Parts: sequence; C-alpha cells; structure tokens
Amino acid sequence: MIKNMEYMMENIFSNINLPLNKQVNILEVGTGNGDGTTVYMNNILKRNIFDYRIHSYEGIGECYKQATSFWHAQNDPKIKIINKFFCDKEDIEQMVLPNIFGQGNIMTKEHYTEKYKKILETGIFEGDIDYTPDIILIDSWRFGHAAIVNKCKKYCDENTIFIVEDDLRAQRRRVYGEEEILKRYFYLKNIKRFKGDLYDGTWNFFTFNL
Ligand SMILES: C[S@@+](CC[C@H](N)C(=O)[O-])C[C@H]1O[C@@H](n2cnc3c(N)ncnc32)[C@H](O)[C@@H]1O
Repeated sequence: MIKNMEYMMENIFSNINLPLNKQVNILEVGTGNGDGTTVYMNNILKRNIFDYRIHSYEGIGECYKQATSFWHAQNDPKIKIINKFFCDKEDIEQMVLPNIFGQGNIMTKEHYTEKYKKILETGIFEGDIDYTPDIILIDSWRFGHAAIVNKCKKYCDENTIFIVEDDLRAQRRRVYGEEEILKRYFYLKNIKRFKGDLYDGTWNFFTFNL
C-alpha cells in the first residue's frame, strides 16, 4: 500500500519507460491548485528527461487561478496550465451523468449532477490539441473519467500510457470503481494497479493503454 501521493507518482513512473529521443508530452486533466500531481510529475521528469511539456487542464476558475499563480512563481516554461474542461460536452450527458451513484455526503448524485449541470451550461471545453500525448494523467472528479478518456482517444496512440485515479475502489462500501466504469466503454490493455492508502489521502491509481 502506498501512503503518499508523491511516492505514488514515483512508483507509477518507475514502471514507465519514458522516450528519450523526442519531446515527451504529458497531458494532465485535473491540475487542482497546481501544487500536487503536477509538481510530483515535473520533479520526476526533470530528473529523467531533457525535453518535455506538461499541458495541465483545470476547468474550475478558482483552482486555475491558484495553479497559475503557483507555476508563475516557479517560472518554468515546460508547464502550461489551461483553464478549460478537457472532454466533449455531449459526453457528460452520455458517459458521466448515467454513471453517478449516491454514496455519503460528498458523493451524492445531487452533488455531482449539480456540478456537471453547471459545467454543461457555462463551462469552456477544449477543442483540438496538436500533439500526441505520451502520458495522460487523469486526476479529475470521480465519475468524470470516461468522458475524458473518450476525448483523449482521438489524440493518443497505442503507446500512450494512461495514469488514472481510481478512488471509488478506496471507498469502504465500494459498488464499483472508475476502472469498471471505463471498461463499459473502452477495451483497456496492459492494466497495472497501484494501491494507495485512503487514510493518508492517497488514492488508488491504475495505468493502461488503449
Ligand atoms: C482531485 S482534484 C485534482 C488534484 C490535483 N491533481 C492535486 O494533486 O492536487 C480534481 C480537479 O479536476 C478538475 N476537473 C475535473 N474534471 C475536469 C475536466 N474534464 N477538465 C478539466 N478539469 C477537470 C476539478 O475542477 C478539480 O479541481
């Protein structure tokens, strides 16, 4: 069991062979305030490869502001924080809302439906990207992953490695995890699972190719 998010990222990346002969493109969905997974990935990449970019998406304005202010202070041109939702709007209706189930205070169907409804009305969604991501890290809201993977599918290739948070698995009364939601829509190859310790705030993750 991995007890810390930084070690979780170290552990996951130690299982990945990063290409050394080209610019490595990382697509992150769910920057939050910018001082978590983005920092851990950047530290790993900095140590291991010369040429990389992290394109990190945060759809919520308040978090985006925190993240840009954090990264502005680091003055690192390799990191780009983007204030857009990375998924197609229509996929929220098709692949997110139907999978939401109520569980506890912060996981009620009402809570998520309300959040996604707001996004459907006012959110700014990414159009096209002009690179093939080598690694895609999805640390978004639970239930939202399938719509994100569906958009990524247009831009990734068979070598692209998805690193995806699977925190539904960590709930005591697990009904099903994000992995199982994704399997309803996609054939996931080469799955590897990394077990976190929820009590230390470390979610489970899994990696796969499409
Ligand atoms: C769990 S937090 C991210 C935590 C962050 N990775 C860290 O280590 O601190 C999830 C974030 O994903 C954002 N988010 C969820 N779905 C998104 C999407 N499709 N596009 C962009 N941002 C999204 C939410 O606004 C939220 O701030």
